[in-house]
Amino acid sequence: MPKLTYCGHSCVLIESKDGNVIIDPFLTGNPLAARTVEDIPKLSAILLTHGHNDHVGDAVKLSVRDGAPVIATYELAIYCEREGAKIVDMNIGGRAVFDWGEVRLVPAWHSSSFMTESGPIYTGMPTGIITKIEGRTLYHLGDTCLFSDLKMIAERYGPIDVAMIPIGDHYTMGPEDAAEARRLIQPWMAIPIHYNTFPPIKQDPWDFVKLVTEQQGEAKALKPGEWMSY
Ligand code: NI
Ligand code: MN
Repeated sequence: MPKLTYCGHSCVLIESKDGNVIIDPFLTGNPLAARTVEDIPKLSAILLTHGHNDHVGDAVKLSVRDGAPVIATYELAIYCEREGAKIVDMNIGGRAVFDWGEVRLVPAWHSSSFMTESGPIYTGMPTGIITKIEGRTLYHLGDTCLFSDLKMIAERYGPIDVAMIPIGDHYTMGPEDAAEARRLIQPWMAIPIHYNTFPPIKQDPWDFVKLVTEQQGEAKALKPGEWMSY
């Protein structure tokens, strides 16, 4: 059974007998981070949903430390490679199989660039990420808005065991749209992400949990640092 640890914002660490991976490792500079780079065990891969700085975070540092690839869309992967990371470049709709599990990039409605002192660098399309590890499927929605293809994605690549869904509003879905996204995906468990890190995305995650409960679904708001097996 894989174990996931919510590290705050959109960061999740997945540990399994086949290897450890992290998605969107925004640890340094994240006011809610429950882990530092030093706390993260040796990784087999670093997965990125898109190029925004609150998702790329410590990706290059972790890649260099562990010799593990950053897996992301072509443009974002190439940016990370130029910064010193090992990479596996992919694109939307594609699946890649590794010794620790599978990853597929799926559409997400958002934007994607990495901000530097001299302006933004284009980092391709934003994505959601579906991982299959020890036979269990986790869907990290990235920073998407609500869109009807979430249902098709879940039907085609599911069943989804865990869906990590942004609820912060302002930059992504808010709780109401996130609950509708969950209804379309029908995961065994929904976990809210991307809230309370910065003032514009302040939310009470219990609003989302309550809406999901009214749909007869399961949701769990993990505190940063909290973990569960799935
Ligand atoms: Ni973003
Ligand atoms: Mn974000």
